[in-house]
Amino acid sequence: MANYRIAPSILSANFAKLGEEITAVIESGADIIHFDVMDNHYVPNLTIGPLVCEAIRPLTEALIDVHLMVEPVDRIVPDFAKAGANIISFHPEASRHIDRTIGLIHEQGCKAGLVFNPATPLHYLDHVLDKLDLVLIMSVNPGFGGQKFIPEALQKLTAVRRRIDASGRDVILEIDGGVKVDNIAEIARAGADTFVAGSAIYGAGRDDDPHRYDSIIAALRAELART
Ligand code: DX5
Ligand code: ZN
Repeated sequence: MANYRIAPSILSANFAKLGEEITAVIESGADIIHFDVMDNHYVPNLTIGPLVCEAIRPLTEALIDVHLMVEPVDRIVPDFAKAGANIISFHPEASRHIDRTIGLIHEQGCKAGLVFNPATPLHYLDHVLDKLDLVLIMSVNPGFGGQKFIPEALQKLTAVRRRIDASGRDVILEIDGGVKVDNIAEIARAGADTFVAGSAIYGAGRDDDPHRYDSIIAALRAELART
C-alpha cells in the first residue's frame, strides 16, 4: 500500500472549539491539517487567516497545509510562514507571476503547492513541476465545503501522477473536495496520495465524544488499504 495521508479540512470543524476539533482529528490518526483560506474575492466566501494559523500551531506537530483561495497571493505568504504554515498552496489564476510566487514560498521556508480548479488546464505545470512540492487537484469548485465530487478529477489525477512519476521527484498529489468513504479508494487508484476531507470527517462525530473521529478516519483508511 502506498504511503497515504489523511488531511481533515478544518473548514467543516466547529469553530467555537477549534483547538479541540484539531486535537481530536490528530488523536484519531489524521496526518495533516488542511487550512482553507478564503477572501470573498477570489472565491465567494470568507474564512480564516494567519492569526488563526498562529493560534493552532502549538496544538500539533502535524503539517499545516495552507490552501490559499485568495487574490493576490504574494502579500499574505510571509504572514502564513511566520504563523507556522508548513505547506502553502495557491491557484495559478490568482498569481500574476507563478514562478515568483513559488520562489517566495520557498524563501519563506515552506513547501509550495499549485492548485487546479476543475476547469484549470494542467499546462500550468509545464515549466514549474520541477519546483513544486505538492499538486492539489480540486474535485469541487473552491469556496465551500460539502459539495459533490466532480468525477472528471480522476482523469486529471492520473495525468498528474504520470507526470510526477516521470519527474522522479517526490511531489505530494493531493485531492480536495467531496472525498468520502465510498469514493476514496477509487481516488487513490487514480493516483492521489493525500486526501482532504472536510464534511466527511467533521460531519461524522458527536460533539461530546473525545474519540468522535476514530471510526470515520479508520473507515477512510480501511478503504485505502483495499487499493
Ligand atoms: C473547498 C475547500 C475544501 C473543502 C473540502 O474550497 O478547499 O478543502 O473544505 O470540504 P469537503 O470535504 O466537505 O468537500
Ligand atoms: Zn482546501
